[in-house]
Amino acid sequence: MKSIADYSTDIENGIRSLEFPGGNLSTLYEPIKYALSAGGKRIRPVLVLMGADAFGKDMTKAMRPAIGIETFHNFTLLHDDVMDKSSVRRGRPTVHKKYDENAAILSGDTMLTLATQLVAEVEDDKLRRVLDTFNDMAIKVYEGQRLDMDFETAETINLSNYLEMIAGKTGSLIGAAVKIGAIIGGASEEDAQKMYEYGVMTGLAFQIQDDWLDTFGDSTTFGKPIGGDINNGKKTYLYVAALEESNQTAAALRAAYEIPSGEMRVKTVTRLFEKLGMSEKCKKAVGHYSSKALKALNSTSLGAEEKEAFKKLAEKLIGRKK
Ligand code: IPE
Ligand code: IPE
Ligand code: MG
Ligand code: MG
Ligand code: MG
Repeated sequence: MKSIADYSTDIENGIRSLEFPGGNLSTLYEPIKYALSAGGKRIRPVLVLMGADAFGKDMTKAMRPAIGIETFHNFTLLHDDVMDKSSVRRGRPTVHKKYDENAAILSGDTMLTLATQLVAEVEDDKLRRVLDTFNDMAIKVYEGQRLDMDFETAETINLSNYLEMIAGKTGSLIGAAVKIGAIIGGASEEDAQKMYEYGVMTGLAFQIQDDWLDTFGDSTTFGKPIGGDINNGKKTYLYVAALEESNQTAAALRAAYEIPSGEMRVKTVTRLFEKLGMSEKCKKAVGHYSSKALKALNSTSLGAEEKEAFKKLAEKLIGRKK
């Protein structure tokens, strides 16, 4: 196995070598290039490569599908930033701000189809399994995103509602990424499914950490403005866990969200979360789902070196600041 940094460099090089039409269609393809060149963490495509390398000792056949998975991820971000009214991502204006909403919609659609084409670049005997995994995942992401939006205006969201939502919007893609890599590498169905479980659990931890960073992170490092979730009334882990504390807390929380969106609301809600110890509770939850991920990983037939590589990646994500 290579280091995470090396897999990541392979992905950057692969993305850089993609070519897009110019001319009068540059209005369609420029936003795609802009989004893909912004340098995210690339954890999903790295997981595709790692899956293939771990099970098949070869990642070359996973390269194009890995770029497909990253393209799909970025497609979801174009649309997500419109839905969440987000102006900044990866320290730069979001696509709908730099261009316009039509660009976010249509270049996003194009990325979805490009992604599907890239993911389908696998050997014929693996195509059905890979495409089924990919399409099942895509539906789960849309379902999760729909719940995420509906929850903004919902009064009572409990932990189980929350987990269903993030398993869809975030867990399923991370799970599918590593599963697709594993299939390309020739993993058995049983191992591929266990790796999916590793990915989904890692994804839950990843999203809870994202929720934490949205309130307690540093915007320069995180690349996104702090407080967006509070302003949008998002039912984050912080919110849902606080709501479960007591009736009194729930009332205080609801009152804080009566404050109009803006600095005052963000400050008030953040202080309340701090007072309730939600930051620590969040970190505990991240640890909890990471250990579930490791449990799934350990139940696979992978060797020690391979398990260690996936363990390292999960650990890296727990402490992430961006
Ligand atoms: C952002 O994903 C969307 C979430 C699921 C929280 P990442 O945090 O992986 O974004 P990039 O690709 O590294 O920018
Ligand atoms: C992102 O959730 C999930 C998807 C884009 C599918 P968020 O809305 O929390 O992601 P960020 O914080 O904008 O990156
Ligand atoms: Mg969102
Ligand atoms: Mg968002
Ligand atoms: Mg977020």
